[in-house]
Amino acid sequence: MDKASLVVLISGSGSNLQAIIDAVKNKQLNAEISAVISNQATAKGLDRAAGENITTHVIDHRQYPSRELFDTALMQTIDPLEPDLVILAGFMRILGDNFIAHYQHQLLNIHPSLLPKYKGLNTHRKALENSDKVHGASVHYVSNELDSGPVVIQAEVPVLATDTEDSLARRVLAEEHKIYPLAIKLHIEGRITFDNEHLQLDNQVLTKPLLWKNNQLI
Ligand code: GAR
Repeated sequence: MDKASLVVLISGSGSNLQAIIDAVKNKQLNAEISAVISNQATAKGLDRAAGENITTHVIDHRQYPSRELFDTALMQTIDPLEPDLVILAGFMRILGDNFIAHYQHQLLNIHPSLLPKYKGLNTHRKALENSDKVHGASVHYVSNELDSGPVVIQAEVPVLATDTEDSLARRVLAEEHKIYPLAIKLHIEGRITFDNEHLQLDNQVLTKPLLWKNNQLI
């Protein structure tokens, strides 16, 4: 089987990107990362990519007078690569409807909460403020607005009485690094599909997200 082509969009540290790079390198993923695109020139993830000889692009949203023109620049960079999957890995810009429709069924995002809880920013703080006993992360197809769309897999992380925002964020991030490569693998192997109505795993409708808990899929 041909290697799947992945394009990864980032804005910052790129630790999820690193997890994907590692999964490609250790052959967990039969894929190549065709490019990494950042809207921030200083994103540390760009150094991670360059260190692996992965093509990088900076498309700075501040250089574009509108969201539509920024999105168009992104699409013009992505399309020639003909990716099988566009992966948002800590990409902190809201994408417009045109972009989302253009990559329908092949656009994945990771978000540090158990969606539909806590879309947007400061998810760890919100979980602590609400005295949640369980927090976590979700990988989902992007079908309309960011942090929305059918959830493929969630990782649950217990919230400890001693947790701070930082300690909780660290433990959630460690789980993100496990579930993102897993979701990407299911997509590129064609095992998980999204046809706008149904999420399917191995041709069976998935009525709730896969759950990653205590280091295993249950
Ligand atoms: C991750 O926690 C990711 O879930 C979050 O940004 C962080 C990026 O870390 N994404 C969002 O909040 C998207 N709404 P990374 O750059 O180290 O992968």
